[in-house]
Amino acid sequence: MSKLIFAPTGEEKELIDGSPIAEACEEAGVPFACTEGVCGTCVIEVLEGIENLTPFTQEEKDFLGEQDKERLACQCKIRSGCVKINF
Ligand code: FES
Repeated sequence: MSKLIFAPTGEEKELIDGSPIAEACEEAGVPFACTEGVCGTCVIEVLEGIENLTPFTQEEKDFLGEQDKERLACQCKIRSGCVKINF
C-alpha cells in the first residue's frame, strides 16, 4: 500500500500501489475541473516523495513546464511509498 499525506490537514490516505491520486485528493479538498490535464485547477505542490509518483504526463509537461515540485493531481498515480502534498 502507498500513503498520501495532505499537509494542510495532516490527513493520511492509504492507496493501492499504482492508483490514481485524484479521488483521494478531491475528498481532501483539492479542486478539480477538466480532469484531463488542461486547466491547471488541480495543481498540487509535492513536499515529499515526488519520486513515488508516476512520471510527468505530456499534459503536465505542457502545463507546468520543467520543474520538480508541482504536479497535476488529475494526472498522476502513486507508485509506492509515501507522498506528502500541499494544495
Ligand atoms: S483538473 Fe484540469 S488539469 Fe487537473
